[in-house]
Amino acid sequence: GLAISSLLSDTGVVTYDPGFMNTAACRSEITYIDGDAGILRYRGYPIEQLAARSTYLEVSYLLAKGELPTPAQYEAFETRVLRHTHVHEGFRALIRAFPRTAHPMAIVSSAISALPGFYPEVFETSDDEAEELASILLLAKTPTIVAYVLNHVNGEEMLDAEPSHGFIEDFLRLALGQSREGEFGPEVVAAMDMLFVLHADHEQNCSTATVRAVGSADTNLFLSVAAGINALSGPKHGGANEAVLSMLEEIRDTHGDAGSFVTKVKDKASGARLMGFGHRVYKNYDPRAAIVKEATDSVLKALGARDELLDLAMGLEEIALSDEYFVQRKLYPNVDFYTGLIYRAMGFPTSMFTPLFAVGRTPGWIAQWREMMHDPATKIARPRQVYTGPDERDFVALSERR
Ligand code: ACO
Repeated sequence: GLAISSLLSDTGVVTYDPGFMNTAACRSEITYIDGDAGILRYRGYPIEQLAARSTYLEVSYLLAKGELPTPAQYEAFETRVLRHTHVHEGFRALIRAFPRTAHPMAIVSSAISALPGFYPEVFETSDDEAEELASILLLAKTPTIVAYVLNHVNGEEMLDAEPSHGFIEDFLRLALGQSREGEFGPEVVAAMDMLFVLHADHEQNCSTATVRAVGSADTNLFLSVAAGINALSGPKHGGANEAVLSMLEEIRDTHGDAGSFVTKVKDKASGARLMGFGHRVYKNYDPRAAIVKEATDSVLKALGARDELLDLAMGLEEIALSDEYFVQRKLYPNVDFYTGLIYRAMGFPTSMFTPLFAVGRTPGWIAQWREMMHDPATKIARPRQVYTGPDERDFVALSERR
C-alpha cells in the first residue's frame, strides 16, 4: 500500500529508476552519444576529428559556446586563459597542509572547493561576465593546482606558472619538469592535449550529473565542479584508470597470465571486475578507447618507454573480446583501459591518473553547468523515492527498550 501510493505524486506517476538508466534529467545541445553505434560528438563534431585536429583549449571554447572560435576569438580566449594560470599563494600552503601520502584526489577536491574563498570577486556580479570569468579561472587554474598536488606528493618545489610556454606545455613542465630530464617533445605534448580532448565531455555521466544536480541549487560553478570531482574519484567512474593499472600490475605480479585473471573475473563470487571494461552507454566499442589504443604505441615509442604492461593489456583485451562472458554482456574496453599506460610512460604516478581525468573533464563540467543555468526548464534536482520502511509505530523510551 505504502509503496504504491508513493508512486503517485502531484505531478503524475513516479517512476522507480535506479541509476537513472531510463531517465533524461535534462535537454542538452552539447554532446551526442550513440552507444550502440559507438558514436561520440561534441556540438556535432565527431570525436575522431576533434582528437586528430583540435586542441583542448579550442574544444573548451566549443563546448561552452556551441561553435568553434574564429582565429580572433581563439586568440582572445587563449590569452585570457593563460593570464590566469597562476594561483594565489594560499594554494601552496593549502596543498602543503596535507600529508604527502594523502590521495591526490582528496587534495585536488579540497583545493577546487577553496577557489570561491580565494576569488570571491568573481561572484560580485551575477551577470554573464561573472559566469565567463569563473569559467576562465577554473579552466586556467585546475591544471596548475593538479601540478602542485603532484609536486607536493613528490616532495618537489611548486614552480610559478609561465604561460608563455603554452597551456599544455606549461602544465607538463609544472607537473613533471623536476622529476624527468629534458623537455617533452611535440608528440608528447600533442598526446596529452589529445587525451584531454577525449575526456572533455561525456554528457550525463555520474560526475556531470552531479555537477548539474549541485548547480541546480544555484550553487556556484567552483563548488558544483568540486562535487563533480568527488564523484569522479569513484573506481566505477574516473577512478577506473587508476584501477586498470593496479589490475595490470596485479596480473603481472601474481597470476602471471591474463587468461587466469579473466577466469577469476567471470566468477562473480570473486568480486573482481575487469577494470577499464564495460560502459553504461557504449554497448559496442568506446570510440575514445579506439583512439587511445592507436596512440599508445606511438606515444610510448616517442618517450622511449617499452612497457610490458601494454603487451599484457593488449593480450587481456584479445582474450576478453573472444570470451562468451564479455561478448554476451557487450563489455568492451572503455577510454580508461589504455590511458593509464600513456600517463605512466609520461612519468605520472598511478594516483595522479584521476586528477588528470579531472583536468580533461573540466571543460565539460563548465559547459554543462552553464547550459543548465540558462535553461528555463531547470529545476532544483530533487528525485522522488519509493518508501519501503516501517509503517507508523510508537516511540519507546531508551530505558524501556530491551
Ligand atoms: N568486468 C566483469 N563483468 C562486468 C564488468 C567488468 N568490467 N562490467 C560489467 N560486468 C557485468 C556485470 O557483472 C553484469 O553481469 P550480470 O548481468 O551477469 O549480473 C553485467 O556485466 C552488467 O553490468 P552492470 O554493472 O549492470 O553495468 P552498468 O552499466 O551498471 O555498469 C560500469 C557500467 C560501472 C562501467 C561497469 O561496466 C564497470 O564496473 N566497469 C569497470 C569499471 C570501469 O572501467 N569504469 C569506467 C567507466 S568509463 C568512465 O568512467 C570514463
